[in-house]
Amino acid sequence: MGKKVNWAVLSTGRIAHELGECFAKHPDAVPYAVGSRDLAKAEAYKEEFGFQKAYGSYEEMLQDPDIDIVYIGTPTTMHYENAKMCLEHGKNVLCEKAITVNKKQFEALCALAKEKDLFLMEAMWLPLHPTFKKAAEWIREGRIGDVQYIKAEHTFQHPYDPTDRGFSKALGAGTILDLGVYNFAFAGEMFGAKPEKINMIGRLGPDGADIDSQVQLIYPGGYAIFTMGYTSDTTANTFIAGSKGKIQYNEIYTGAKYVYLYDDRMRIVETYAEPNGWVGLDYEVESVTECIQQGKKMHPVITWDHTLEMFDIVEECKRQMGVDYGEFEAL
Ligand SMILES: NC(=O)c1ccc[n+]([C@@H]2O[C@H](COP(=O)([O-])OP(=O)(O)OC[C@H]3O[C@@H](n4cnc5c(N)ncnc54)[C@H](OP(=O)(O)O)[C@@H]3O)[C@@H](O)[C@H]2O)c1
Repeated sequence: MGKKVNWAVLSTGRIAHELGECFAKHPDAVPYAVGSRDLAKAEAYKEEFGFQKAYGSYEEMLQDPDIDIVYIGTPTTMHYENAKMCLEHGKNVLCEKAITVNKKQFEALCALAKEKDLFLMEAMWLPLHPTFKKAAEWIREGRIGDVQYIKAEHTFQHPYDPTDRGFSKALGAGTILDLGVYNFAFAGEMFGAKPEKINMIGRLGPDGADIDSQVQLIYPGGYAIFTMGYTSDTTANTFIAGSKGKIQYNEIYTGAKYVYLYDDRMRIVETYAEPNGWVGLDYEVESVTECIQQGKKMHPVITWDHTLEMFDIVEECKRQMGVDYGEFEAL
């Protein structure tokens, strides 16, 4: 066990609740402070997850000198202003995906974090998950030969609600920022390259958010196709085909419990199971706590370059779909 790290949670929505569940499993990560726009919500969250302090505004929470890291779980269009405010208050930041709505905002946050000598990371847990790491290891070891094709379905069926962050562009809705960021990180790791070409098609909702889409990323030697959306459920299967074998996961985007290695005749030759009974956020809490203990300013896997490369794909997808977040695109 190392030095205890005091975590603060900025907002009390759905994902903040999922994060709250994690602290009991990570003794060095202390559930310390929570800030909400509504003190009653902060108090309720504090009681539910055993936090020590509850604040009725984000600004008030950021005055607390004993916070070691702030986790931001607000809607995506709020991330830039919230992260900037945290950094300006001298706080290390782990901010939900997509960390900003565009690349220039993320670059501005990186410059500020550098100037203030603070930790900054997009909360992209997928590459930290053991089943993801196992697949990447099989690929590096040449177990499936050259990666040729990746297919993943990443969709949810939600009734249309213009006030929900899944549909409201003002809250950062859209498949590119919400779901694409996982897929782009996934494909980049498995192909070990940047895409040479991007083709995106899809459907915009009433306020111009991309609510259903399909993106094709062409890599040297292969391609990936991702289906993403909010209006139908699919099998959530993810498949990586190589010249000598295949890899398959179920439910990768909620943290696949198993990943399967197949030979070239579609026989399972190895199965790997997530070893701890943890969810993706657990791996994030564990490794970010270690980063803070070690005084790191950048996560060793989710580096700023990792996120910047993801934004290159995001920007091109937004351009092809004609998605723009208006006032929220500004610095
Ligand atoms: N990593 C993952 O697996 C994962 C999963 C789901 C979502 N996410 C990301 O997490 C973020 C939040 O998603 P969520 O589903 O938790 O959203 P949510 O349930 O709508 O919660 C967002 C919270 O942000 C705060 N907030 C601040 N300004 C707001 C505003 N103008 N309107 C609404 N809420 C506002 C609210 O907390 P207070 O009222 O307490 O201030 C609210 O409860 C998104 O960026 C999303 O992409 C990540």
